[in-house]
Amino acid sequence: MARKTLILNGSPRPQGNTAALIETLRTKLSGEVIEISAFRSGIAPCVDCRSCWTTAKCAVRDGMQTIYDDDFDNVVIASPVYYGTLPGQMLSLMSRLQPWHAAKFFLNRPLELREKKAAVILTAGGKGNADMALHHVRALCRMLNAKGFAEHWVCSPNTDEIPADQDEKAVADVIALAKWLNEEQT
Ligand SMILES: Cc1cc2nc3c(=O)[nH]c(=O)nc-3n(C[C@H](O)[C@H](O)[C@H](O)COP(=O)(O)O)c2cc1C
Repeated sequence: MARKTLILNGSPRPQGNTAALIETLRTKLSGEVIEISAFRSGIAPCVDCRSCWTTAKCAVRDGMQTIYDDDFDNVVIASPVYYGTLPGQMLSLMSRLQPWHAAKFFLNRPLELREKKAAVILTAGGKGNADMALHHVRALCRMLNAKGFAEHWVCSPNTDEIPADQDEKAVADVIALAKWLNEEQT
């Protein structure tokens, strides 16, 4: 059965570098694809209301429900690098996973989340040092029960000079990511 993929898009630019690599990925993915834009989805940041400390649920009703539903097999974090890490809007979206943290650590009722594959696509204007970005990705993937990004991440550096869609290595690597994501086995 074709696998369902959730793409978390951290770029504000609809025709930008990240968008170009997402488009390449989409053309090669065989199953359903849902994309959430950290900049355009209107997903609010966590305001630490602490309702989830007792309910394990988020009090805010917005597009985050798609993620809470946990109905996907792959997650792809696709984002530009900002100041060495993920843009604030991606971190803001990530903060909304606090109910899952509360369920596990405050209520001692960890959720049984589907095990997913995780892949990462980064673009960077400069050299593309991805250490800090990958540090945040690791935390995000742990929350999502998504595995494998350490061996399945792509960075297109130097986009100030060469746009990502002309970065032949990055494009080939994204196509390889799609192939892996399409495979049944984790
Ligand atoms: C606020 C801001 C911070 C950035 N910080 C970095 C950085 O730390 N390192 C880097 O290599 N590029 C940095 N860049 C450049 C972007 O990562 C680069 O232009 C990227 O390809 C943009 O992707 P997009 O077109 O998909 O939005 C920054 C850009 C912006 C707007």
